[in-house]
Amino acid sequence: MAIKLSDLSKRYGSNDAVRGVSLEVEQGELFGFLGPNGAGKTTTIKMLTGLLEPSSGIAEIKGINIWTSPIEAKKHLAYVPDHPNIYPKLTGWEYIQFVASVFGVSEDTYEKKAAELLETFSLTERADELIESYSHGMKQKIAICGALIHEPDVLFLDEPTVGLDPKSARALKNLLRKLCDEGMTAFVSTHILEIAEEMCDRVGIIADGQIVALGTMDELRQLEGTSEGSLEDIFLELTGGEAEQALIEEMGKPESGEIK
Ligand SMILES: Nc1ncnc2c1ncn2[C@@H]1O[C@H](COP(=O)(O)OP(=O)(O)OP(=O)(O)O)[C@@H](O)[C@H]1O
Ligand SMILES: [Mg+2]
Repeated sequence: MAIKLSDLSKRYGSNDAVRGVSLEVEQGELFGFLGPNGAGKTTTIKMLTGLLEPSSGIAEIKGINIWTSPIEAKKHLAYVPDHPNIYPKLTGWEYIQFVASVFGVSEDTYEKKAAELLETFSLTERADELIESYSHGMKQKIAICGALIHEPDVLFLDEPTVGLDPKSARALKNLLRKLCDEGMTAFVSTHILEIAEEMCDRVGIIADGQIVALGTMDELRQLEGTSEGSLEDIFLELTGGEAEQALIEEMGKPESGEIK
């Protein structure tokens, strides 16, 4: 199993951010991790990438407990956070070179691959400029290039498309699909539902720290008893969005007696 969460929980003070999540993601799967703001997506990903100690439960990458054997487990993974904070005084190209050297990728291998990745994300022209001069989207894209340069078995992306323009978002989607078809596992958090709907093999919906639905799009539709339901319908139904929407509509109504 590429990724395994066993009864994983995280408590911040009295706030149960992640509550007993159990989940398995197979090698080669493109898994979409969906949920509203504050649902626990980033917290879960940080536990899976060894950045945050679980309050209880176990997170494993390729069968290795990431918290107790971080060095061994981290060889297999790459992680692109929602706000990549990468070395501002390196150029894009130097950053990729740096990541490649840390992971022991040979020069012959990474040079060609780096050039391809930079081209894919329209960064070729800017590769010799300092990262501090990059826009938010460009920083995100160079972080993705760095993550992919060492060909990880398991890739974690937290809200990867938020800063990306449509061309880059499409390039990322196509690339992830291709890499997963070739055997990489991707765990992608998003609240942009079309992304999950278009490209993921399976999605898990987390709400208030717990998995409320898990399966392929077809399975989720069956769960909802509709053959046509969009992921948005299922998502809103399961995460309480409908109640919130009704409240917003209610608040938007004029007070009784108010003159229109
Ligand atoms: N460092 C922290 N200290 C205290 N509470 C935190 C901390 N980080 C997150 N939380 C809380 O944990 C819960 C889950 O947050 P998390 O960032 O995992 O949500 P998310 O699903 O990634 O949301 P978003 O879609 O907004 O990125 C929230 O209630 C949040 O306030
Ligand atoms: Mg988050």
